[in-house]
Amino acid sequence: MDLISASLKMTRPPSADTLVWVGYCRAGFERDLARELVDRLGGEVIEATENAGYVRVCAATNEVRFRVAVQDLTFARQLILTREAAVQLISNDRVTPIVDALQAFMVLHGIDHVVDCRVEYPDTNDGKALSRAAKAIEPRLRERLAANHQLVGHAKFRAMVFLTPDKQARIGLADLHLSANDPLGIPRFRMPPDAPSRSTLKLAEAIHVFLGSGQDEAMQPDMRAVDLGAAPGGWTWQLMQRGLRVTAVDNGALKGDLVDNAMVKHLRTDGFRYAPTVPVDWLVCDMVEQPARIATLVAKWLANGWARYAIFNLKLPMKKRHEEVARCREIIGEAMEEAGKSYILQLKQLYHDREEITGFVMLPNRKARFAHHLAAHHLAASDEARRVGRPAPTGRKTGGDHARVAASAFSASPNTTLNTSSPSASVAAKKPALNLSSTLPRAAASPWSAKPLPKQKKRR
Ligand SMILES: C[S@@+](CC[C@H](N)C(=O)[O-])C[C@H]1O[C@@H](n2cnc3c(N)ncnc32)[C@H](O)[C@@H]1O
Repeated sequence: MDLISASLKMTRPPSADTLVWVGYCRAGFERDLARELVDRLGGEVIEATENAGYVRVCAATNEVRFRVAVQDLTFARQLILTREAAVQLISNDRVTPIVDALQAFMVLHGIDHVVDCRVEYPDTNDGKALSRAAKAIEPRLRERLAANHQLVGHAKFRAMVFLTPDKQARIGLADLHLSANDPLGIPRFRMPPDAPSRSTLKLAEAIHVFLGSGQDEAMQPDMRAVDLGAAPGGWTWQLMQRGLRVTAVDNGALKGDLVDNAMVKHLRTDGFRYAPTVPVDWLVCDMVEQPARIATLVAKWLANGWARYAIFNLKLPMKKRHEEVARCREIIGEAMEEAGKSYILQLKQLYHDREEITGFVMLPNRKARFAHHLAAHHLAASDEARRVGRPAPTGRKTGGDHARVAASAFSASPNTTLNTSSPSASVAAKKPALNLSSTLPRAAASPWSAKPLPKQKKRR
């Protein structure tokens, strides 16, 4: 079924040379991704079919060529730039027409070399039927590029070929900094045999996607974490494996290794009422609740300084997922602004997320090198900051190469938010104060020695 209303759809047929973004998504989320891409690119939808596992969208102008990142989209697993004309896979020689089309596309973009090539397909049953063809074509394509001296390790792009069940190949390019590194945009994790639930893979993926190479710095042994909605314990287990001490909050029982474990303190209480006696490093939250309630709770923890980092799941069983995501982003943004906190926010549907997405918020520590590992988040946000006339985050100046390359490529990014402003009088005056009043008990029975939280100021 064609999903897109006439208002989003292309009014005239695209020409063969129209630049077209192909975004991969979980089957069933095509409408959400198409809307997101149209918002982002200002363009029109060329193809969005229910359960196809991908959408195709053209940008308003060709100027946006490599200016949108998969990291900045909630519903995209991968994003590649193609042209409208496809290669028909009908002849016996499937490789030559693909190589010819790829060479032409590279010339069009002034690109001489690519780092590698991938032949991919949608993550659906029909798509997976193409995996054999993809496996056969990919090494032969690589050989031909190598023979032309077009494969070099330091190139900035990867050649991409996207096969569709209608026997067409879309030829494209992916900027290494703006696309997903994993094949099909899907990071693979093996289920750890000792983990109490498969949910553990969700947190493992979130850490991989949001923290990348910065994860060892952001999650260090003996850091403290609170897991709201912890039972049976897959997320707690994941944190404990990294050496964190976890307060697991849930009326339900924990399982396996987590029972009577010195690294884990289990509290049978309500996650919405619990408040830490000392600030912790991490909040994670997987309670099944309305997304806006979870967003408000996470915002309260970070705004109150109860945690510096948070990973949380937002269940999205409703139809208007795009709108609900925007609402949650707004709730967090307003709370952080109200509290005068700088923050980085990312919301993403991970491979292990079904009718849900995962969020990540951090309060950046300006001294931490770690901030530079978050180039995608950080730089998109600096651009956003420039756009709204605020100073860019200080860390950007000393960012690495990765950071600088990304800086040149990013435009303002709606999925990644970094806000460095203090709440101005006008903001404070216009917006009704959120109810972030703390239920924090006075410092006392902390399971680990740490500085108690200061007494909360009364809000007007
Ligand atoms: C999806 S499960 C969490 C799975 C867990 N993350 C894991 O990895 O095993 C949701 C949990 O949230 C808990 N929960 C729901 N509402 C809660 C609340 N208000 N306070 C504490 N726990 C709650 C449920 O008891 C349930 O165990």
